[in-house]
Amino acid sequence: MSFIRQAAALTLWAAGCAGTGIMTEAKTIVKKQTFGQTADGASVDLYVLSNKNAMEAAIMNYGGIVVRLKTPDRNGKLEDIVLGMENLDGYLKGHPYFGCIVGRYGNRIAKGRFVLNGVEYKLAKNNGENHLHGGIRGFDKAVWTARETGAAGVEMSYLSKDGEEGYPGNLAVKVTYTLTDDNELRIDYSATTDKDTVVNLTNHSYFNLAGQGEGDILAHELMLNADRFTPVDSGLIPTGELRSVKGTPLDFTKPTAIGARIGQDDEQLKLGGGYDHNFVLNSGGGRLALAARVHEPRTGRVMEVWTTEPGVQLYTGNFLDGTIRGKGGKVYQRRYGFCLETQHFPDSPNQPEFPTTVLKPGGRYESTTIFKFAAK
Ligand code: BGC
Repeated sequence: MSFIRQAAALTLWAAGCAGTGIMTEAKTIVKKQTFGQTADGASVDLYVLSNKNAMEAAIMNYGGIVVRLKTPDRNGKLEDIVLGMENLDGYLKGHPYFGCIVGRYGNRIAKGRFVLNGVEYKLAKNNGENHLHGGIRGFDKAVWTARETGAAGVEMSYLSKDGEEGYPGNLAVKVTYTLTDDNELRIDYSATTDKDTVVNLTNHSYFNLAGQGEGDILAHELMLNADRFTPVDSGLIPTGELRSVKGTPLDFTKPTAIGARIGQDDEQLKLGGGYDHNFVLNSGGGRLALAARVHEPRTGRVMEVWTTEPGVQLYTGNFLDGTIRGKGGKVYQRRYGFCLETQHFPDSPNQPEFPTTVLKPGGRYESTTIFKFAAK
């Protein structure tokens, strides 16, 4: 199909969504349940959002984690399609960022340092010699203040203090999850600061559209609206180049099974142990646009990812290794889930050519991502 035709069809669908999304408030329900307590005695609640189609998104205020996401298959059968732990204890003991809000900086910052206004800031090196996902105690481990919104959702707030994990500035963050009757899980992020800082927030859900724990994700067909990606070095830090996907196994401009080329003798795939790359979205960011579409052939489930971000990290669960027993006792083997983390590019604070991640006092960081579900 020509790109133009595809884009036109999507625009129509987007217009339809925009027309109906706001009308859903009355039908969606939010139920609050106690989920447990952290070691410091902070209480953690689960907010269960459900819509008129019985779709369900359960989110807790520890890490803002999407604990459960139930969507219908082509026969209307609901299944939980995100990986996660059985209970709060499981999450507290440690996990590879299942479902959480990642911050203050999603993905890697080279050598755990950056310079801003001539000052060097040092961050934890929690991934080899690099900094990953906000550090030792990133936003994924914070207890957020939750509040039900009028619009069928839950708003999470967190004040990240000046100097937390090495980052400058008090950063006031809000993340709102909304479930619509159009089967969209919408995530709106915003943040303000009192000192120049860097921000890059994302959600780290691991999806398996066949159902969580139901095998690997290699048969999922993926389309990415990205003609370029950011190649990485052996520490998974972007080299700075924006490389065309053409003629490489990273070309998902036409729907292709994730597993079709994952084993190819390709330098970038070897470095990532599979796909673990940031794709440069054709939209350029700054407006809500389709980033990805995934189709799972057995169940017919389809997920679209819409975002205002300029990039998306495709991570194919290469580091899952069967050592985690998750929800329902399911053991998560290698590539049992994939992530599509909408974001600014990794290591932007050290890469002046990349879209900036600097936030200044008086400015506002704003970002929206929509995961939209259907079945065919
Ligand atoms: C990173 C991976 C990392 C994973 C889990 C992804 O966002 O790109 O390299 O292993 O998160 O931590």
